[in-house]
Amino acid sequence: TLSPLRPVLMAARDAGVGVGAFNVIQLEHAEALVRAAERTGLPVVLQISENAAKYHGALAPIALATHAVAAASDAICVLHLDHAESPPLVHEALELGFTSVMFDASKLPDDRNRAVTAEVARRCHDAGVSIEAELGEVGGKDGVHAPGARTDPAQAARFVADTGVDALAVAVGSSHAMTTRDATLDLELITRLRAAVDVPLVLHGSSGVPDAGLVDAVRSGMTKVNIATHLNTVFTGAVREYLDREPGVVDTRKYLGAARDAVEDETARLLQMLHDS
Ligand code: G3H
Ligand code: ZN
Repeated sequence: TLSPLRPVLMAARDAGVGVGAFNVIQLEHAEALVRAAERTGLPVVLQISENAAKYHGALAPIALATHAVAAASDAICVLHLDHAESPPLVHEALELGFTSVMFDASKLPDDRNRAVTAEVARRCHDAGVSIEAELGEVGGKDGVHAPGARTDPAQAARFVADTGVDALAVAVGSSHAMTTRDATLDLELITRLRAAVDVPLVLHGSSGVPDAGLVDAVRSGMTKVNIATHLNTVFTGAVREYLDREPGVVDTRKYLGAARDAVEDETARLLQMLHDS
């Protein structure tokens, strides 16, 4: 079942629990994530990034496949366009049945960023789709880690009021694409952001944060927790292990199936942990 992001996050925020958001690159990711949601009975956010669409050459094939997997399930699934920088891609996502988008115009001057984000938010809301934006850049996507970036609570509150977004990604010490889980989050800042901002907060770059740090982040007021690289580590590890064990295998279903199972198990564990925080 597909749901917009907003009601899923508002319910979680009211309950003081976290929601897992994971990136889909291959079809196997989508299948694993939805199976984990079914297994735990918890909602899941299936995210397709602008970069993943670039990898496939287009957004539609992976989006429509992921949409079909989600629609066929009883689990509550949000189909979310992640890190979109171009309004035309957002408009395409609305056509394709996405129920949520993250729009990032932070490369524009502040005034333009607010105006363009507010306009994209209006279009999304007209379509019944939720919108997430980011203030205070969480670095690392370009290979440059910036764990020092911080979002100011007063500015964040103003940005949400000016743009009408449903969720806000904030910089609190994490960095994208980390393959070690040793980042330290600014929990005191999360508490202040939670008090100042009246929409759910989103943690990006969560792969670099250890389990205990993610639990603390949710307890301090983080609602949506975005994890991508960590599941790729699990996926690739399972493929490598399978191929090492069975060097003669040629059927792709064998090792991709092993990877899908491993990602399902780890996603179920993370969904439950974030929910129980
Ligand atoms: O938007 C996606 C997330 O922020 C993922 O970051 O790959 O560092 O977990 P990550
Ligand atoms: Zn991110």
